Amino acid sequence: MSSSAQIGVTGLAVMGRNLARNFARNGFTVAVHNRTAAKARALVDEFGDEGEFVYTETAKDFVAALERPRRLVVMVKAGEPTDAVIKEFAPLLEPGDMIVDGGNAHFADTRRRERELRELGIHFVGTGVSGGEEGALNGPSIMPGGSAESYAALGPMLEKISAKAADGSPCTAHIGPDGAGHFVKMVHNGIEYADMQLIAEAYQLLREVAGYSPAEIADIFRTWNRGRLDSYLIEITAEVLAHVDAATGKPFVDVVADRAEQKGTGRWTVQIALDLGVPVSGIAEAVFARSVSGHTELRAASRDLAGPVAEPLSKEAAAAFADRVEQALYASKIVSYTQGFHEIAAGSAEYGWDIDLGAVASIWRGGCIIRAAFLDRIRAAYDARADLPSLLADEGFAREIGAAQDDWRAVLVAATQQGVPAPGFAAALAYYDALRAERLPAALTQGQRDYFGAHTYRRTDREGSFHTLWGGDRSEVEA
Ligand SMILES: NC(=O)c1ccc[n+]([C@@H]2O[C@H](COP(=O)([O-])OP(=O)(O)OC[C@H]3O[C@@H](n4cnc5c(N)ncnc54)[C@H](OP(=O)(O)O)[C@@H]3O)[C@@H](O)[C@H]2O)c1
Repeated sequence: MSSSAQIGVTGLAVMGRNLARNFARNGFTVAVHNRTAAKARALVDEFGDEGEFVYTETAKDFVAALERPRRLVVMVKAGEPTDAVIKEFAPLLEPGDMIVDGGNAHFADTRRRERELRELGIHFVGTGVSGGEEGALNGPSIMPGGSAESYAALGPMLEKISAKAADGSPCTAHIGPDGAGHFVKMVHNGIEYADMQLIAEAYQLLREVAGYSPAEIADIFRTWNRGRLDSYLIEITAEVLAHVDAATGKPFVDVVADRAEQKGTGRWTVQIALDLGVPVSGIAEAVFARSVSGHTELRAASRDLAGPVAEPLSKEAAAAFADRVEQALYASKIVSYTQGFHEIAAGSAEYGWDIDLGAVASIWRGGCIIRAAFLDRIRAAYDARADLPSLLADEGFAREIGAAQDDWRAVLVAATQQGVPAPGFAAALAYYDALRAERLPAALTQGQRDYFGAHTYRRTDREGSFHTLWGGDRSEVEA
């Protein structure tokens, strides 16, 4: 077999198959391989006219088909299957070759795999890929980690197949060493959870407080999509809300079971944030909201609990309320991204990745699920000041969130009074108010900790650690 393929893809389920086609459509010769070889055969039979494919049946043939340095993309089920594939292919590779894991791996696994393969001289490129099957085919947002050397050999190909932002720049960039790419993909998914939750809360408020129908709310979302909330998720929300179930003639959203599922990356974002000590309350509420929705028995057992009597709004009041919800949604979205970027900055500092936050915002502008006009603003904020301590420290965002805050608060008052849960909006506002606060009750928390556990505290007026003799004469000692 001649070593003619510039890249190889193993794992040809929906993502791998479409990624392989994307490479081929962009002029690359692609070797294809799958544990169940029939899938590789089917791909070539069905899409062979889209470009140059090299069908391979065995791992040995697959590796032999690749030009050097070999670029081997793995798109298999994340977890043990990835380790199994690495175990199968690594002995067949040579120093300088690279294994590119495009699955949704946990970044800690990526760090381990990178370390193990580095010892063999093989580059391991843990790569986040976002955009689902459509993105994989037509241009995803791609977040590769790994060595700079591997990016030099792989990056130009990824830049070619990735989505392009409105200004034409590719939605991929070298994120940083070892697990950096998968870490950023994880936080991307956490922000996606938060975005979806906030949109869902806006919908619920428009429906239950303002009294709009799903079709009317679809129109409201379409209007919002022409403004500063312009994004893929708002666009598809309007589509979903406008859809009518063919079997019943009811709004589609009314016939779907209200139990949200999750695959795990949102949960990882929160778990890692807890480890890093980063408050990602908006993302956490989004994960918990899905969890609450899934507890059907608990919900059934609680259905008769007392709640307020709903008071319908007049038509004029409903329209005014919808405008306020837009403000609350936008302000809460700024907070979600603030928290997500904080987590990326913290991960980067912890693992020495030196991640360029502006570049991350830039490559999320196209191809991925959270693509939005808004990301241009985030990129500009980091371009203006790379060491921005928080997105809320950006003058433009601070001004906008300040202008939104009255409406944001009013929406939460209405939600509370009408008994409509809005945990994402509420968590975002609480975070905003906590950051603004001159004094937090954490001082009291420290006092309590010192009382029951002699955990000591610091004072505002002088250096050092102190303990009060609570059980004695309550004098203070330096700890
Ligand atoms: N679906 C999405 O929207 C999306 C988006 C971004 C990232 N991802 C990630 O992309 C990866 C692929 O996703 P997917 O939905 O296309 O496929 P998937 O259902 O996650 O995985 C199926 C593929 O994995 C292979 N596989 C499973 N166990 C294996 C093993 N022990 N050894 C070798 N191959 C094995 C299967 O081969 P056989 O055909 O032989 O069973 C098949 O090719 C996953 O890591 C996923 O998390 C998915």
